[in-house]
Amino acid sequence: MSLPALLAISYLLGSIPTGLILARIKGIDIRKSGSGNIGFTNVMRVAGKDRSGKLIGLLTLAGDMGKGALAIRLALHQGSEWAPALAGLSVFFGHIFSFWLRGKGGKGVATGLGISLGINPALGALVCLPWALIFALTRTSSLASLGSFALMPLTALLWQRLLPSPENALPKHTLLLFTLMTLLVFFRHKDNISRIRKGEESKM
Ligand code: G3P
Repeated sequence: MSLPALLAISYLLGSIPTGLILARIKGIDIRKSGSGNIGFTNVMRVAGKDRSGKLIGLLTLAGDMGKGALAIRLALHQGSEWAPALAGLSVFFGHIFSFWLRGKGGKGVATGLGISLGINPALGALVCLPWALIFALTRTSSLASLGSFALMPLTALLWQRLLPSPENALPKHTLLLFTLMTLLVFFRHKDNISRIRKGEESKM
């Protein structure tokens, strides 16, 4: 596959609004409910009051993470050394500036975590760990997202410094991708940040 074709496919894949589609099964327009975000947290918050709703929430998480990981897996077969970072950025952009939603979209957290898992499953698990810890302590999803993404570039740097091996080596483009994702996640959470500062952010 050529690089432009890979990037177009990654962008369109990222654009699929998993949460919006799945919440419709429960008759919910997720953009008009809860925080209005189309991601896992809001689907769980709004729909997850019964078993089928919780399943829809988990499928949103799996779908959004899966599309990030899938774009990276496709890119690893493409051959160009830039392909994984560029495909990662394309699928991430697709999720937050969706083609199907005319430039609107999610906040990028699950897709970004999926991208890190696609790049290296063990590193991805390490990147997800702060999310789980912060969430367990605060029950605040946005705080967990901001904390884990703030740590993501540092985690990647420490990962290759402390565990040097050919499998763990990360190209500079990947570190750049992690940094860009962190900046975009903070940008997409500006309303959450303001609610956190006022002590008004909703807990799960
Ligand atoms: O993954 C999104 C999460 O960090 C915040 O979601 O719905 O509370 O704005 P929400």
